[in-house]
Amino acid sequence: MTLGLDQKMNNDDADLESSTVAPPTGGQADLLHRMGLEAGHAAVVGLQWGDEGKGQIVDQLAGHFDAVVRYNGGNNAGHSVHIGQEKFALHLVPSGILYPDKLNIVSNGVVVDPSPDTGILKEITGLRNRGVLIGENLRISDRAHVVMPYHKVQDALYDEAVAHTWESGTAIGTTGRGIGPCYADKALRTTAIRMGELLDPDRLREKINRVVTIKNVLLSALAEHCGRPFDPFDPQVLLEQAVAQGQNLKSHVTDTFQLLHNTVMAGKRVLFEGANAALLDIDHGTYPFVTSSSTSSLGVGPGTGLPVQTMKNVIGVAKAYTSRVGGGPHPTELQDEVGEHIRNVGKEFGTTTGRPRRCGWLDLTAVRYSVRLNGCTAMVCTGLSVLAGLDPLKVCVGYRYGGRKSENFLPDADVLAQAEPIYEQLEGFSGVIGDIQDYRDLPAPARAYIDRVERFVGVPVRVVCVGPRRDQTILR
Ligand code: GDP
Ligand code: IMO
Ligand code: MG
Repeated sequence: MTLGLDQKMNNDDADLESSTVAPPTGGQADLLHRMGLEAGHAAVVGLQWGDEGKGQIVDQLAGHFDAVVRYNGGNNAGHSVHIGQEKFALHLVPSGILYPDKLNIVSNGVVVDPSPDTGILKEITGLRNRGVLIGENLRISDRAHVVMPYHKVQDALYDEAVAHTWESGTAIGTTGRGIGPCYADKALRTTAIRMGELLDPDRLREKINRVVTIKNVLLSALAEHCGRPFDPFDPQVLLEQAVAQGQNLKSHVTDTFQLLHNTVMAGKRVLFEGANAALLDIDHGTYPFVTSSSTSSLGVGPGTGLPVQTMKNVIGVAKAYTSRVGGGPHPTELQDEVGEHIRNVGKEFGTTTGRPRRCGWLDLTAVRYSVRLNGCTAMVCTGLSVLAGLDPLKVCVGYRYGGRKSENFLPDADVLAQAEPIYEQLEGFSGVIGDIQDYRDLPAPARAYIDRVERFVGVPVRVVCVGPRRDQTILR
């Protein structure tokens, strides 16, 4: 079994041999019913700052859909799926890939690193080595933008330059995957490269020559400013790499606009897999400490080319506490032994970068904001078992800012950084709850906690997860 670096860093089960991947069984049809998903397409989105367990929920729902679509972000996402003793960390490949009969689409809104050392070719090879079938079931948009090697250098240098020029607290702390620079080039247009162009060497040669000239000028100046060495990019080398990557991915690259419209018109059901999360949204998140795409369900339209009314169900996923990786305000962060406890019990280390996640109490004000932004029809609460043994529990129900109270989330990063959370205390619970299958068997305070979430946020919590495995999903 071959595992990627990130998986090695985060996966205690890394040495277990892979077998074939089994689809979920048991109460999963009920899962669909309980979520009110009998008809129509659906989206699964994150309601906090990422890593809520979206991959796990997409994996469980995918069995009931015909296609799973990633519509935003890139390999800054790390979606883990646990099946028995096995863990799969997915970054660009949609989390429906473990079902051989489902169509998995990486649509135009995604930025794709095609490379075999850090990108989708690495992911495909890793999955194939573990017995996962990848062929016609994976489709990548010819309009998806390509993350080039210089984007990753630009990402690292830019964040460093910001910290260098101002103060360290102003750096975003990106994943370093080149996501921001790639989306910036998409907006700039003339320096952007799309997946379809990798299949046309003549057009690509002209484009790369032009773009690399500009990138070398910019990056050498930025490197000098940071006191870093910089080897200019050789356009011929980049061209050869890109053409080879294009050839390796050729069978997957297609017009996903047509494919998706045909899929929908044929009466097939589509599940949209949000990457990153609402509070990292480029427009509605805690700007500038956000990622560079539309991370909510609102991103499905531009990210796929499907009209907005396509979406019927939006499932928001939130952890029973809050975590954040990278810079930016996090009002309920706990820099004490409780925060440490949550990080250790919840194994809160990045699926993509391995960085420790900043953990804290559940911010209900933030979750309600995200539910409204996404138009959620139902919620899933993950990680409830992580709170066992903490008493009392606290949830944030508003903020104090500038001598006033706010019941609403404060998405402006400077304002939020100064906001003081207003907490409500709830009774804690103890014991091992990871094996509980029936909601009624959860300790009463754990159920009261979920009730409080639901009442505050205003949408039903249909599913509660007490662990990362498929069999640790409790229907409500
Ligand atoms: P995603 O990016 O939203 O797909 O989430 P990640 O996979 O990055 O991070 C979620 C992490 O929490 C993963 O390691 C999951 O396996 C784990 N997880 C999800 N739900 C639960 C849960 O109910 N309990 C525990 N202990 N871990 C969970
Ligand atoms: P999933 O899909 C957690 C964070 C980064 C950084 C900021 C900008 O696994 O939930 P970027 O590299 O996108 O420019 O980084 O956004 N970030 C995430 N944090 N989970 C993610 O994805 C994230 N995607 C981006 O840590 O603070
Ligand atoms: Mg993640």
